[in-house]
Amino acid sequence: MKIKHILESQQFTRPLLNEIFYVANQMDRMLIRGGTQDYNNKIMATLFYEPSTRTRFSFEAAMHRLGGRVISTENAKDFSSGSIGESLEDTINVLNNYTDVIVLRHNEIDGSKRAAKVSQVPIINAGDGKGGQHPTQALLDLYTMYKERGSIEGLKIAFVGDLAHGRTVRSLSYLLGKYERVKLYFIAPPVIQMREDILEYLDYRDIWYDTLDDLHSVISEVDVVYQTRIEKERLGEKVGEYEKFVKEYYIDQNVLERMSKDAIIMHPLPRMKEISPVVDNDPRAAYFRQSRNGILIRMALLSMLFE
Ligand code: CP
Repeated sequence: MKIKHILESQQFTRPLLNEIFYVANQMDRMLIRGGTQDYNNKIMATLFYEPSTRTRFSFEAAMHRLGGRVISTENAKDFSSGSIGESLEDTINVLNNYTDVIVLRHNEIDGSKRAAKVSQVPIINAGDGKGGQHPTQALLDLYTMYKERGSIEGLKIAFVGDLAHGRTVRSLSYLLGKYERVKLYFIAPPVIQMREDILEYLDYRDIWYDTLDDLHSVISEVDVVYQTRIEKERLGEKVGEYEKFVKEYYIDQNVLERMSKDAIIMHPLPRMKEISPVVDNDPRAAYFRQSRNGILIRMALLSMLFE
């Protein structure tokens, strides 16, 4: 792999995406066998300034399955020297002496880019700021669509929920902009609708998209529903409409009945109130399979960075 850091989705070319998916498929077989010891001389640091379940655990599990070792801090905001004012740049410079790769979740947009400017070892952006990027999540999301549907080309995908601040939908939109004949439906209340910078990028790539506020108008047509969490505190003057929005975009048995038999429901998780637990038993609920793809993609990325 000809890249040093993993910072944003725009950096991935189609040949590179194909290579990552190929290696992830190999990692699936390796994981079933229990892993490898190939990278037992490598150390990965996880430096998370924000909470995480999936990203941190799957990166750490991926490194263990590759035979490598992990160093970490429980909560970098409180338990690293950042808590008494050490700069991110100094922290990265110091960690460069101890580790072969740094997985960073930072609370500021472009935190990973700042880290990469001073780092000799690869920086992996594990999510930066609200409305920033989460490129490894986008890779596992794209891989999930590819595995579940056989191809990305021609897919009709509905993004639902908080599209203004959700870094996963922003990063995934950049990746989908590299594929032919996809149709993207951005479905959200206007106050949290997809931002202009992504729409301009899609215009530039000549990608078909529509912005809507009614989930039910397209639910029977789409191949993928990518549901996301609406955060109350992000609704601004519309905060009083939170419960109404949650109800309007809720996925339950009624929505399932209107969806195509081959469609899938994805969610980066964590889920709050936006998908009924009843949906979990339907084979179209792909979100837990999606979370398993996280370890495969992260094993693939680590092994490719180490080669
Ligand atoms: N999808 C995701 O980024 O989950 P975590 O916040 O638990 O890592």
